[in-house]
Amino acid sequence: MDILEVINARRNIKKFKSDEVSLGRIEHWLQAGTMAPNHRMTEPWEVYFIGEETRAQLNHKSNFCNAPVVLAVLSKHGATDFETFENALASACFVQNFNLAAWAEGVGTFWSSIGSSPRSRAILGVPEGYDVIGIFGVGYPEEIKEPKERTSITEKIKHLS
Ligand SMILES: Cc1cc2nc3c(=O)[nH]c(=O)nc-3n(C[C@H](O)[C@H](O)[C@H](O)COP(=O)(O)O)c2cc1C
Repeated sequence: MDILEVINARRNIKKFKSDEVSLGRIEHWLQAGTMAPNHRMTEPWEVYFIGEETRAQLNHKSNFCNAPVVLAVLSKHGATDFETFENALASACFVQNFNLAAWAEGVGTFWSSIGSSPRSRAILGVPEGYDVIGIFGVGYPEEIKEPKERTSITEKIKHLS
């Protein structure tokens, strides 16, 4: 697949096969994540692999769609609110690099916001000074839905003088 095919084919996956995903491949895709743009080379991302005990404690409503692997991506704060904002942007770029690298090898992700709640942060042991960008189920898709329709970008472009 070329890059546009990967981008256009990627979906947020809500049904996974139980097949294991190699830790080595996941680390490889996370390494691709680190090539994300990041202002001042802050490399603000951190990754927590979530084991069975922690996963059970999180008590997510769909158990992260029963994905075989679950991980959280954190983003370190900067010295100012603006740097924290930029770090979160960089960490989102990290996530999308990871998502696309995995997708190119047939592995999908489910993005959950649950990690941001105070309860989840406490369970994960997230230190002060970090945002949780998301918790991700990772696995081979059992079902890939049709794309959700997007508004044409021409409706969102302004040409300034
Ligand atoms: C910051 C962020 C948080 C998200 N949180 C959730 C979530 O909590 N639950 C969920 O089902 N999907 C979540 N998603 C995934 C979106 O719902 C999904 O990307 C969107 O519906 C478009 O579908 P697609 O990715 O398959 O194109 C999140 C996505 C982002 C970028």
